[in-house]
Amino acid sequence: MKDEKRKDVSWQGKCSDTVYIAGSEAEGHFSLINEACSMIIPESAHSAYDKAAQYFNIKLWRIPVNKDFIADVGAIRRCINRNTILIVGSTPGFPHGIIDSIEELGELAFSSEICFHVDLCLGGFVLPFARKLGIKDISELFIVERPDMTIVAFGSNVIDIFEVNDILSSKGWHLNALQRPNSIHICVTLQHVPVVEDFKDLRDAVQTVKQNPGPISGGLAPIYGAAGKMPDRVMVQELLVDFMDASC
Ligand SMILES: Cc1ncc(COP(=O)(O)O)c(C=O)c1O
Repeated sequence: MKDEKRKDVSWQGKCSDTVYIAGSEAEGHFSLINEACSMIIPESAHSAYDKAAQYFNIKLWRIPVNKDFIADVGAIRRCINRNTILIVGSTPGFPHGIIDSIEELGELAFSSEICFHVDLCLGGFVLPFARKLGIKDISELFIVERPDMTIVAFGSNVIDIFEVNDILSSKGWHLNALQRPNSIHICVTLQHVPVVEDFKDLRDAVQTVKQNPGPISGGLAPIYGAAGKMPDRVMVQELLVDFMDASC
């Protein structure tokens, strides 16, 4: 770890807070970091870990989730080696709102003598009190697996979900686009209570896209659509970085 990072007070508590407080200097975790270090995280973990890995020059391994979109503990176990310093589990994960097997991951980390970060960024103190969100059926949409909280990812087999997202954005909504499967997610908070019963804007957007197949919005749908289809993930990364550099 570079000296300036160690001295930077904001480093441990700011930037991508969730991630950078994952270790404790007092316990010597940061002194373990060196060029060869790696962290192993489920594919569903937040992109903040990519950012942290780049900042601190830690190799990042993303491990595919299992069929229920939960961290695959066995696959993570098989990837642990002497360079592994940290594994991560989310409660719930950013994309689909699904909780990983925290106890199993904790035991794995404990027995492997490595750090374990439980990402409670979305769950926080709310999690113990949260009830699952009941979204009424919109027949053109499917919900990605079984969300554990109020974060719900949904996609479609009949319409372009990213076009739906663009239309929602034009109405002031901020939903996130996801891949594998192509979907978008909403994190429902107190602010949504007045609209949560009918999700009218969503229903309308679905109907608009259904009645106008093909690119309609002039928004980000083509970018997300292309990124979802490209098998070369390095190319996807470069495409998205170039896009952000050009547009942000
Ligand atoms: C589950 C999860 N982890 C990590 C983060 C990153 O948060 P921060 O940038 O504050 O570290 C987020 C942000 O939305 C998140 O939802």
